[in-house]
Amino acid sequence: TNRRRAALEEARMNKDLQAAGSLRTQLTNLFRLAINKAYPDLTDEPVVAACNNPKFGDYQCNNAMQLFAKLKGKEGAPKAPRDVASALVANLPPNELLSETSLAGPGFINIRLSNEFLSKRVSEMLKLGLQPPFSPDLSSKKCVVDFSSPNVAKEMHVGHLRSTIIGDTICRTLELCGAQVLRLNHIGDWGTQFGMLIQHMSELTPSADGGATGDESISDLMELYRAAKKRFDEDEGFKQRAREAVTALQSGDEKSLRMWRAICAASRKEFAAIYERLGVRVEERGESFYNPMLKAVVEELKEKGCAEESDGAICVFVEGQSIPLIVQKSDGGFGYASTDMAAIKHRLEVEKADWIIYVTDAGQAQHFDLVFSAAKKAGWIGTPESKAKIDHVGFGLVLGEDGKKFKTRSGDVVRLVELLDEAKARCTDTIRTRSQETGETVDEASLEHAASAMGYGAVKYADLKSHRMTNYKFSFDSMLDLKGNTAVYLLYAHARIAGIARKAEKDIDALAASTPIVVAHQREVDLALHLSRFPEAMEDMLQELTPNRLTDYLYELSERFNAFYVDCKVLGSEEEGSRLQLVEATARVMRQCFSLLGLIPLYRI
Ligand code: ARG
Repeated sequence: TNRRRAALEEARMNKDLQAAGSLRTQLTNLFRLAINKAYPDLTDEPVVAACNNPKFGDYQCNNAMQLFAKLKGKEGAPKAPRDVASALVANLPPNELLSETSLAGPGFINIRLSNEFLSKRVSEMLKLGLQPPFSPDLSSKKCVVDFSSPNVAKEMHVGHLRSTIIGDTICRTLELCGAQVLRLNHIGDWGTQFGMLIQHMSELTPSADGGATGDESISDLMELYRAAKKRFDEDEGFKQRAREAVTALQSGDEKSLRMWRAICAASRKEFAAIYERLGVRVEERGESFYNPMLKAVVEELKEKGCAEESDGAICVFVEGQSIPLIVQKSDGGFGYASTDMAAIKHRLEVEKADWIIYVTDAGQAQHFDLVFSAAKKAGWIGTPESKAKIDHVGFGLVLGEDGKKFKTRSGDVVRLVELLDEAKARCTDTIRTRSQETGETVDEASLEHAASAMGYGAVKYADLKSHRMTNYKFSFDSMLDLKGNTAVYLLYAHARIAGIARKAEKDIDALAASTPIVVAHQREVDLALHLSRFPEAMEDMLQELTPNRLTDYLYELSERFNAFYVDCKVLGSEEEGSRLQLVEATARVMRQCFSLLGLIPLYRI
């Protein structure tokens, strides 16, 4: 981060355009100066946004109406909001960004950026590399992202897949902004289910390890879990023995611990296989990690008067919530909520997190609301000493093509491994067919590489592209569509674009150093503007923690490129030197987006 800060400082001193911030930030800064100069008494923050209709401008500033309302009645007050708008325009400091402004409606200011400015900005992206946004400044921040978090002895389901994919993209975006990110896998590796399981297994196999070897497949474990649960519900005697088994485990009984470790190890293998395929890195720190802290946390909450007894349980009541957070159950046991209280405290006090993000299904929103409020009540957050930001990133359901809960034909949970296998197999077919059509041969190794990149990429992209709160239908046909807004389409598009630069046989870096970019044709302007807006897409994504901001940006980029490529001849044209740089900048921005989305770029398919 020091190196980055130094580079940023240097860039600022040299007045590099990117270092001044995203286009929106730069325009906001200009209008701040204008407001200040025109109306020194008012401190309104400028509201600058992209124009909805590009016919009118690239951006617009919408402050005039509100400023007018504030000035009304004062001496020398303007007669209409439009006068305020004109005054703002007249007070804009000299700058190289704007080519023209116009007024619209009651007092909107439409802004058109200058082509020279856009050209320079893209040229700089090639020369200096792509800069992530500098606001929010995350360069020295510690972020904890709690994501994926499947449960031991249970199948990892599509909900966990969503958490894994969304969480990974959030981590990658924070990392690109220079944050120090702790990726935590809060797996469900503790709790009453282990009592049932251990008791059932040791009754089946009366040996020292209770039949737990660590080599069980997830389906074995699921089978055992189901049988144990059935007995637990039907057989009072077993229920009692299972409860005792939990106590034995929690008090550190050797055999119980051994069995527990073996069961965790077996599940871990299954999880690891998924992460490996998806290229996702996450550090395991499951619920059991916080077990030694639970008692003290509940004590602290009681001492501070945050928690009280209610019907034998220890509860934290939170204003505006109908149900309390139960931090200790009436039988004295600790549960999911107790663990999350210990975890949040640990992350704040030991990990010194500036930002904690939890990625789970939207169904857990209330749970996290309670946890965050309880942490506030305890004074762990929201104090002058602890201003950490905390967010729950919820997401909707994955549905089958029939619009119902995603299941196999026989009604079972869909196994993620099989899902990924199928995506890859279908991509292998697609690539084979395409190569037969084009007559280009692909060797087995490239086929393997391309099929995984496409297949796994398609699953990820389909998940990320819909707003995370909406439910989406899992459909191989639509996610593997060669023409729609899919990873397959975008990976092909990138390969084509990379191919143009390759065919030109030019050293693009040398070209960037020697040849200015000139954008003149409307399609060039459209493309250059969109390229320059990449930091804004990241800003929006960080603001809302919605990865679809990135996919929307990426898809639009490919569309603008297509429009450019149809209308503007590149190879062999007079403008070749300039246009090749636009081609290369497009390819680089696409790759940066791919990298944030966890997609692997392909250069030839
Ligand atoms: N294991 C939980 C589940 O499967 C998700 C855990 C999320 N993280 C947390 N700190 N509660 O739903």
